[in-house]
Amino acid sequence: MNAPTLHFYDLHPPLADIKEEVLKGLSCQPKAIPPKFFYDEYGSQLFDQITELPEYYPTRAEIGIIKEDGEEMVSLLGNECLLVELGSGSSQKIRLLLDALQPAAYMPIDISKEHLLKSAQVLATDYPDLEIHATCADYSEHFHLPYSPDDKPKAAFFPGSSIGNFDPPQAQALLQRVAEFLGQDSTLLIGVDIKKEPQRLNAAYNDAAGVTAAFNLNLLTRINRELEADFDLSRFEHNAFYNEPQGRVEMHLVSNTPHEVQVGGQTFEFAEGESIHTENSYKYTVTQFQNLANKAGFQPEQVWMDSADLFSVHCLRVR
Ligand SMILES: C[S@@+](CC[C@H](N)C(=O)[O-])C[C@H]1O[C@@H](n2cnc3c(N)ncnc32)[C@H](O)[C@@H]1O
Repeated sequence: MNAPTLHFYDLHPPLADIKEEVLKGLSCQPKAIPPKFFYDEYGSQLFDQITELPEYYPTRAEIGIIKEDGEEMVSLLGNECLLVELGSGSSQKIRLLLDALQPAAYMPIDISKEHLLKSAQVLATDYPDLEIHATCADYSEHFHLPYSPDDKPKAAFFPGSSIGNFDPPQAQALLQRVAEFLGQDSTLLIGVDIKKEPQRLNAAYNDAAGVTAAFNLNLLTRINRELEADFDLSRFEHNAFYNEPQGRVEMHLVSNTPHEVQVGGQTFEFAEGESIHTENSYKYTVTQFQNLANKAGFQPEQVWMDSADLFSVHCLRVR
């Protein structure tokens, strides 16, 4: 009989930390809440719906690249490694690599606890020989891998252009931490969205079916539930646009009326038109991203793109 193959580590940030971060963000001018808080269980389900939308090209483009060039990716990652995935979501993309790759173990890391657990259980059923170390943690904070055998090389997979949620200095600091836990000569495979014409970017974050708007507004539902808040969702509107000078798509929740909101015992005033900045999604040229990776301690090894140059997957090696 095989040993149990699914292990679960709960390093989810405590509610007090989430409260502190949300209150701090709402006290800033302009108001801002980090996008990691989108991902409660329903937020993760909404994100999965976003990936299916006709306007949302990044998921299809990245999957197409991995299908086309996966063999070369697998050879660069190498077998028998501990394969760490940052922001694993539904663990769909990793399947494209797992069919050819035999890692010693797979460690999906995600902040969305219930969704991570369910996805890891489905993966364990579909890949019964795969040792899985599912880890619920916030990778934007310093944390140690809860499972890190000395005798296994490490590799990492960071798809979905989630690195774009960080401004370039924060992205560099996060990549530096990834390089540290991976160790010298290890490989990182990372998906990065490419700079392109604003029309396509604006459409991708303003879908006709309104799923991205629901995803954005769900942040307020979550805060109401978890932090004793009284946001009235009908007083906020989804707003997303490409900020070309900054090279990023911005998402906001804009108040359509002057009003007050209670959150965790504090009162916050909103003017008409005032926004909560909920997400940045930075876009990069290949060279811009390679320069960033270089500064974080990685040697760019290879880059693959789709035929329309919408998306890039980089292979980086820790120097
Ligand atoms: C844009 S989705 C990408 C999901 C999947 N990797 C894909 O490519 O389709 C971002 C994922 O990262 C997770 N996530 C976001 N911020 C995180 C953080 N700070 N720490 C851990 N996971 C995070 C979310 O829960 C979500 O599953």
